[in-house]
Amino acid sequence: MIRLLTLSFFASLCLGELIPVSNYIGQHKQKCEPRLAITGELVQDKIYTFGGCYPIPYIVDPSVENMYFMNAKHNNVSETIQIYDIKKDEWTHETEVKLPFPWRSASTQVYQQDIYFYSVRSAERYQDSGKMWKYDTVLKEFSALEDLPFNWHGNLKTCANNGRMYFVGDSDGMQRNAIQVYNIENGVWEKPLFPNLRFTIKQMLCGKDAIQFLGNVLTDEDDSMLVYFRLENSELIRTDYITGNTILSGLSVKASSTYDLIVKANNDKFYYFDVKDEETVIVVVDTVALENRTLEALPHTLEAPLFIPYQDDLLFLFGGGRSRNSWNRPKKSTGTLKTYSHKLVPESIVEIKHQKNE
Ligand SMILES: *[C@@H]1O[C@H](CO)[C@@H](O)[C@H](O)[C@H]1NC(C)=O
Ligand SMILES: *[C@@H]1O[C@H](CO)[C@@H](O)[C@H](O)[C@H]1NC(C)=O
Repeated sequence: MIRLLTLSFFASLCLGELIPVSNYIGQHKQKCEPRLAITGELVQDKIYTFGGCYPIPYIVDPSVENMYFMNAKHNNVSETIQIYDIKKDEWTHETEVKLPFPWRSASTQVYQQDIYFYSVRSAERYQDSGKMWKYDTVLKEFSALEDLPFNWHGNLKTCANNGRMYFVGDSDGMQRNAIQVYNIENGVWEKPLFPNLRFTIKQMLCGKDAIQFLGNVLTDEDDSMLVYFRLENSELIRTDYITGNTILSGLSVKASSTYDLIVKANNDKFYYFDVKDEETVIVVVDTVALENRTLEALPHTLEAPLFIPYQDDLLFLFGGGRSRNSWNRPKKSTGTLKTYSHKLVPESIVEIKHQKNE
């Protein structure tokens, strides 16, 4: 009864349905580092989560005066793996395997049954390193790969297709773009692609016949950081797999350049979270149909959830928390949720399905 009431309460606030699922069982807590999402990936019908960072109890020492660094010592970093089975709505601990060492966070890329990790941050090392690991979800084995043999600017982004993984620094375009190409089957780095345009990116995906970017083209006139942060729109940019020839697709979407923005890619679509003052808007950008749509407005300013689009019609949300503005005060929020273990069924997708059935 209570569960039903809760559901209708959320349904009236959201456009779609925000449905509770089994709670995340890993150790990661948003409190540890507010902008850090749980590290996780989807492989077939399972979501794997890795490591994370969590607060540990401590006794306040009144003689410690440096409040700023106090928090750092009261966190610990985890080396465990958890698996969420979407079909069963069930979490389990991976008991046979641990991470090679405790991880605060890592960037991930899936290719077939393997999850690749890069930009791994350990307990001590917050910065990006050039190391890469692979986890085989079937054999349950970790392996260390060769260090990345190139430099980049900003945060690394990747996508994978046709036996290859493509790497781009999101700020490479400040100097010159190069798309690094890793041949997954034989572990060889191939000749990079050199696009004929300069651009910064928010996210990339490997489409059927082109690499697709959501980003901004830079010209020699607007070569400054100021211009970059002023840009309110992102363009859909596409690069040919063979020649590196790069063009604008003509689609432009509103996406503020804040750190709150999370962009994920799935099945030729970008999904992004835009955290506004009182709500979080989820927009989908279809790189094939060249369309953009606002999927949902969550009545919460949701910061750093693990956000996983699944099979075109579901979005999973784990963890996260209230976003704070730059003065560290909570933004206004009408909802009551603090942490997510939910799936979101966007209404627009529900509508399309109903139409098909009729
Ligand atoms: C911190 O994490 C490590 C490894 O994950 C664990 O062995 C250790 O007991 C933890 N320490 C505390 C104080 O929780
Ligand atoms: C979607 O695209 C249209 C047309 O380009 C634009 O007017 C609108 O602002 C876009 N919406 C979002 C959320 O970006």
